[in-house]
Amino acid sequence: MKPKFLFFATFVFSFYFIDGTQASIRIKRSINWNGNNWAMKCDFNGNNLSNVKISSDKCGGKCAETTGCTHFTWTNYNGGTCWMKSGNVSPNDAFETSDSSMVCGYMQNPVNGDVIGTKYSGVLATRHAATKVGACQLPEADYASGIHPVALGDISSLGNLKFKPGLCGHILRVDCGHGSVDIVVNNANLGGGLDLYSSSWDLATGHKPPGQDWCSVQATTRNLFSNSGPRCYYNPSSEMNNDYYHQLGLFNVGGKVVDSANLGGHQGSWNSITGYFSFDGGPVGRDATVTFKYTDGSSFAVLLNDCKKVMAMHTWS
Ligand SMILES: *[C@@H]1O[C@H](CO)[C@@H](O)[C@H](O)[C@H]1NC(C)=O
Repeated sequence: MKPKFLFFATFVFSFYFIDGTQASIRIKRSINWNGNNWAMKCDFNGNNLSNVKISSDKCGGKCAETTGCTHFTWTNYNGGTCWMKSGNVSPNDAFETSDSSMVCGYMQNPVNGDVIGTKYSGVLATRHAATKVGACQLPEADYASGIHPVALGDISSLGNLKFKPGLCGHILRVDCGHGSVDIVVNNANLGGGLDLYSSSWDLATGHKPPGQDWCSVQATTRNLFSNSGPRCYYNPSSEMNNDYYHQLGLFNVGGKVVDSANLGGHQGSWNSITGYFSFDGGPVGRDATVTFKYTDGSSFAVLLNDCKKVMAMHTWS
């Protein structure tokens, strides 16, 4: 009796030890995230939402287009199965497996507590008649191709994608039943839904006459400009050579949402509903640093001297 009992006790103890303490220490050192959000030989526990028989390279895309999917695991079960998963997740929740065919990943970048990839359906869309600069006051720049403007509203069906200055310049994906169209937030439509400019409306609705439509919309990590990485800009309509007053915005942030900013110790405040912060007080030297903080807690710092001075705002149609 005694040897048997000891064997059992040792077994339980080491099982717990390997799966708990030791495994969690190993994880952080060895999961190699590719393109930041997927990796080989890893898995997430539970939270299974649905599954689909599909090849591993299509699993992330399937998750992105599945309502509620925030992360996923692919295994070779049944010839290859993509296990879609729901709920808040952090990359640190992934654990390493010994199966080298497995793939796991997560949807990137929270939008105000939400996760990129969350799709909001049944959102009212209207057609924006005017051609204009828009409340965001986005600068003249080399914009990514295939993006069309929207005045973003704040009705409840928009969920966490209700307009706020931090969404200025973000690229959303809208689908009104005629295929998806990438739209850029350049304006606000407070009290309303998605006010699609004529180019966006025509593509999204299949050239429906002006009126109403109902669409789904989700945030993306697409960049605004044709180059990569965040860019700091002066508001083109602001003074650019006043050491005591600055208006600065950060765009091309790959889906992150700017929440606050600090210039050389001066905390900024949103300048109305433009995509720029106002900074009062100084003098602030050209070698000062402006630090933009995102809703996910990370930040991006740039020298004031590297903030671009463009004299014109982009006109959207
Ligand atoms: C849940 O997903 C995992 C992969 O993460 C899979 O191995 C498991 O079989 C799934 N469980 C159920 C009950 O579907």
